[in-house]
Amino acid sequence: MSKSLVSINDFTKEEILKIMDLAAEFEADPNQKLLCDKVIATLFFEPSTRTRLSFESAINRLGGRVIGFADTSNTSVSKGETLHDTIRMVSNYTDMIVMRHYIEGAARYASECATVPVVNAGDGSNQHPSQTLLDLYSIKKTQGRLDNIHIMVVGDLKYGRTVHSLIQAMAHFNGRFTFVAPPELELPEEYKIFLREHRMEFRETTDMNAYIREADIIYMTRVQRERFSDLMEYERVKNAYILRDSMLEGTKENMRILHPLPRVNEIHTSVDANPKAYYFDQARNGVFTRMAIISYLLGVK
Ligand code: CP
Repeated sequence: MSKSLVSINDFTKEEILKIMDLAAEFEADPNQKLLCDKVIATLFFEPSTRTRLSFESAINRLGGRVIGFADTSNTSVSKGETLHDTIRMVSNYTDMIVMRHYIEGAARYASECATVPVVNAGDGSNQHPSQTLLDLYSIKKTQGRLDNIHIMVVGDLKYGRTVHSLIQAMAHFNGRFTFVAPPELELPEEYKIFLREHRMEFRETTDMNAYIREADIIYMTRVQRERFSDLMEYERVKNAYILRDSMLEGTKENMRILHPLPRVNEIHTSVDANPKAYYFDQARNGVFTRMAIISYLLGVK
C-alpha cells in the first residue's frame, strides 16, 4: 500500500529529518524534473491560497502535471457524489492526491479509499502536516536546530490545526511551549494530555507580554472565523491578541515570528519591516518543503 501523509504522526523523526534535508536540496536547486511522468490532483473542498498554490508550484517545478479543483460547485460533489466515490475516481486519473477538506478525519478516510498516496492539506480543526513540515524547516533555517526550541503560540489554539500538528511534531525535539489564548480558544484537553504524556514542558497564559522575551519563536495564528457556530463569540475574541512592533523590544536577537497565514488583524503591518518577521519567507519555504514531501512519498528522490 502506498504511503500517505494524513497526520504528522505518519512520519517518524527520521522521515521528518529526511524531509528537512530534501527541502534544503530543493531550495538550492529548485528545478529538478523528477515527475515528468506524473499527474497529481489537488482537491480543495475549502478555500486556500498558500497551500494549493505552493503544492501546484512544487509539482510544476518538479516537471509534473496538475489536475483538480479549488471550488466544488462546478464538480459532481454538487450533485451529491460522495467523498468515497470522488476519491476512487481521482485515484484512476492520478499518481497522488493532495486534499483539503472541512471535515476532521476526511483525509484519513480518503487515504483508505484511495489507491494512490494522499496528502492532507488540512482537515477541519484537526491536522495540517505539510504546514508543520514547512514550519519545522523555517525553525531549522532560522534557529540552526530543531531541538530545545521555546515556541510561544498565540491566538486560536482550539481550532488552529497548524498548532495541533506542530505540537505533535515537536515531541521529537523536546519542544517547549507557552500557549497564549483567551479562555474560549484555549488548547483542547487532548493536546494537553499529549504534551504531558511526552513530558513536554508547557504553560498557559492569557498575557502575551509575560513571556515574550523568553521565546525563540513566536507563532501567531488567525482566529478561525469559519469554525465558529456562534459568530457573536467570534466577534468577542477576534482581536484578543495583536502583535505590534513595540512589543518586540527586548525579545531575543534571533527570535523569529512565524504565522501560517492568512493574517487578519493579529500581526500589525508595522511588524512586517522588522527583521524578526519571517512569515513571508516561511510561506516561500512551503514550495521547497512540498517538493520534498511529494518526491519522498512518490519515491523519486
Ligand atoms: N497556511 C495555509 O494553510 O494557508 P492557506 O489557507 O492559504 O492555504
